[in-house]
Amino acid sequence: MSALGTLSTTSTSATSSTTPPVTPPDTLDLNNIQGDILSGLPKKTQLYIFFQIVDVTKFRADLARFVPLVKTVAGVLKDRQLIKEHKKKGHKTLIPLVGVNIAFSHLGFVKLGIDDSSLGPATDPFIIGQFKDSVQNLGDAGTQTASGLVPNWDPAFVQPLHGVILISGESHETLQKKKLEIECIFGVRTIQPSIFQVTSLRGDVRPGAESGHEHFGFLDGISNPAVIGFDKDPNPGPVSVNPGVIVTGYTGDPSQATRASWAVDGSFLVFRYLFQQVPEFNDFLRKNPIAFQDLTPEEGSDLLGARLVGRWKSGAPIDLSPFKNDPVLAVDPKRNNDFKFEGEINSQFRCPFAAHVRKTNPRNDLEALPPPVGPISVQKNRIMRRGVQFGPELTKEEKKTAKTECGRGLLFACYQTSITNGFQFLQKTWANNPKFPIGQTQPEEPGLDPLIGQGVRSMSGTDPNNEEKVISGMPDFIIPRGGEYFFSPSLKGLRETLASPPVTA
Ligand code: HEM
Repeated sequence: MSALGTLSTTSTSATSSTTPPVTPPDTLDLNNIQGDILSGLPKKTQLYIFFQIVDVTKFRADLARFVPLVKTVAGVLKDRQLIKEHKKKGHKTLIPLVGVNIAFSHLGFVKLGIDDSSLGPATDPFIIGQFKDSVQNLGDAGTQTASGLVPNWDPAFVQPLHGVILISGESHETLQKKKLEIECIFGVRTIQPSIFQVTSLRGDVRPGAESGHEHFGFLDGISNPAVIGFDKDPNPGPVSVNPGVIVTGYTGDPSQATRASWAVDGSFLVFRYLFQQVPEFNDFLRKNPIAFQDLTPEEGSDLLGARLVGRWKSGAPIDLSPFKNDPVLAVDPKRNNDFKFEGEINSQFRCPFAAHVRKTNPRNDLEALPPPVGPISVQKNRIMRRGVQFGPELTKEEKKTAKTECGRGLLFACYQTSITNGFQFLQKTWANNPKFPIGQTQPEEPGLDPLIGQGVRSMSGTDPNNEEKVISGMPDFIIPRGGEYFFSPSLKGLRETLASPPVTA
């Protein structure tokens, strides 16, 4: 376990959270970076098409015709401006907009005969692939077979994947039209296809008032890192990250010095197919309301939910509003991410150590640690999250029986320049580690992240009356069923290294 995992050893690479930002900031090439990485493809609905390359020569030629469809960050910013103006005019309808991105796995680069050694050494999770990493490092449940421990995944993700195409848009019709266009480019359903679609998954923003909320009901997508040189006027919150934490080749990219030129202006895309046991989650809250002050049982259940996540369903952080939802705070971007678990290094009175947002971004739990252990910057462990929900709303039957009958959850996606420091670190060293974060004096173990933690599931700190009380035997609320590690190259990389030049007559 590394220093950040236990805090019992010193970190030599620690940087203070007060480290001044790089000056002058790196100039990001927004016309060369794929759009989802820095700005997020605008979406009401999104398709992930996972494919294998079956004809390399044809694929490289087809890719040259596909690249003009790829939306860059500059393109996304234009789309966002259009949406803003459309709303300003008072229109309630959605403008037809589509955004396409593409990313490749290590196996994809191998298949294409492209040397991807500048993306990581043989031990890097990207090179190893998520299938192996899931049971070796992520804690996914597996089954022992003649060929070793294999994760209990959907069969589609047990097959080798070479790449993924993302299509985002405002409606299913728009998505379907773009999908057909892309299928034509790659000759899908012809006698000479260049790709085979292994599976495709569709995610949809939830309907009505639940829009923006994940399936347990909590507002999501509030806290993503502000990027120096891109976010000019960030809202108050965690310190902005160097661009190279998210985009390869810039200050903060741990492999900045050794990236091949085609691998600059890219990012690693982690995809996880995460099922959520929503009726079981709700039932758990209902059966374990926190008895605190004069809360009704229903309010006590809401408080328990908020203490598992670290935010109320509205999005209001419990570090700022610990025992009562504050809907005004929730929607105020100047305040809703401006907290640090301040003065709480040894306390979980306001927010449990294991709460999902405290585990995945511990803020002052590391950044304000006194020497000799701290302070430790969490900057290099930040990720840019871009998830979308999949599956239907709860049925009447599921509400009645408190048992999941229909699959639903999160198509989890995030970007970073190091999977080792980013997603894998958050899952393995923080979420799955019952000892993290550990302060100097409190006797109790924080336990696992109650949402995503994999392993023997217990946590302390849910009860503000008795911070040492441990809830054990928590059911699995989130079950991983697949995923892969991809690299999302620059437009230049796609055009000049992955695609073959257009044939001239
Ligand atoms: C179905 C699975 C998941 C659900 C339902 C979920 C839900 C949430 C919610 C409700 C928030 C608070 C809203 C926000 O701050 O944006 C959040 C924040 C966050 N989640 Fe998750 N999450 C899931 C999976 C993951 C995974 C797999 C990771 C990484 C290993 C992760 C990392 C984070 C991070 C880094 C934050 C922001 C923390 C902060 O900066 O305060 N989440 N998540």
